[in-house]
Amino acid sequence: QEIFRKGVAGAPPRLPTDLTRLEELVAERLGAGPVGTVVGAAGDGRTARANREAFDQWRIVPRMLRDVRVRDLAVEVLGRRLPVPVALAPVGALAVAHPGAERAAARAAAAQGVPFVLSSSSSTPMEEVAEAMGDGERWFQLYWAKDREVTKSFLARARACGCTALLVTLDTWLLGWRPADLDQAYMPFLHGVGTANHFTDPAFLAGLARPVEEDPQAAVTHFFRLSGDPGKTWEDLAFLREHWQGPLVLKGIQHPDDARRAVDAGVDGVVVSNHGGRQVNGAVGSLDVLPAVVGAAGDRLDVLFDSGVRTGDDVLKALALGARAVLLGRPYVYGLALDGEPGVEHVVRTLLAEFELTLALSGFTSPGELGPDCLVRAPGAG
Ligand code: FNR
Repeated sequence: QEIFRKGVAGAPPRLPTDLTRLEELVAERLGAGPVGTVVGAAGDGRTARANREAFDQWRIVPRMLRDVRVRDLAVEVLGRRLPVPVALAPVGALAVAHPGAERAAARAAAAQGVPFVLSSSSSTPMEEVAEAMGDGERWFQLYWAKDREVTKSFLARARACGCTALLVTLDTWLLGWRPADLDQAYMPFLHGVGTANHFTDPAFLAGLARPVEEDPQAAVTHFFRLSGDPGKTWEDLAFLREHWQGPLVLKGIQHPDDARRAVDAGVDGVVVSNHGGRQVNGAVGSLDVLPAVVGAAGDRLDVLFDSGVRTGDDVLKALALGARAVLLGRPYVYGLALDGEPGVEHVVRTLLAEFELTLALSGFTSPGELGPDCLVRAPGAG
């Protein structure tokens, strides 16, 4: 209604309300390097496409005459009440998209009441992001370093910054084969973008022979040496349990057996995610594996979902298939690239408005009413 009212007054939205159009606008706006980094995916992009196609394999079956005047979008996630079932996914190096970077995105998230997940690879020190977003809900995403002291230091800082949950990303020990970055040799990290959390960390800095300002190249080399440890196994999770007291969530789970192992490891939740198709090209669409992971997790884990969410009906489908909430990745980065903080607000508000409308028009008033029986497989889908 607000959009129509403003439109009538001669002020239509500055960005499209069809969020699937943002990608083409970003491609026009940003240079080739940043576009490759933000929009790009692994290989020829077939998993990124599979993420979108997976949503189209399900169709909503609307119900009628059910009094949908009063609606409540709140959900309980990791023991906390969220006003809406959406959070902003951890995205590193946001300075690539817009000078406002993490501060702008985090402020927009706080204004809309959605959690902001601070990336380990932030281009702004986490303390400054936290300060910018006031008391907005924030979670911390860990790229689990080889060095235990650095990891412990990150966890302590995240706690001091008021992060209420820890998401540890399991699918990015090595960077995926991303031709858009490789072909242009574009790597923001080589220029120090996305290293701020490291370059301000006392444990990281203690490992440098000379201060960052004197030898930035050596600092970047040290960053690459530390980040990612493909040798990690399930047994190592005990270390995180020991050093993080709040909810612990594994990001990047795709197989039901891994969900069972997550239960055994005593974690609180998982994010069903394939990193937006940026890691294993040829991997299954993320939504395709959601039902099996939810089945394996039962009610012992909070299952969150990301990869491919673009519209309000996507949110409805993911919740109907058992996700407690979804994380939004690229679309908010596109909003940031196109219009800074207001651009992120536009994306979040648009997604939530479309979700609420779709929910009501389908005959439901809250996420808790959704289940697999709200959907059918599309004709021709397996
Ligand atoms: C990411 N993602 C990501 N994940 C993570 O755990 N830590 C990170 O620092 C990043 N950085 C990052 C940068 C960029 C440019 C993108 C696009 C993505 C993955 C992100 O959290 C999420 O899993 C995907 O973006 C979800 O897919 P969609 O919504 O982009 O399709």
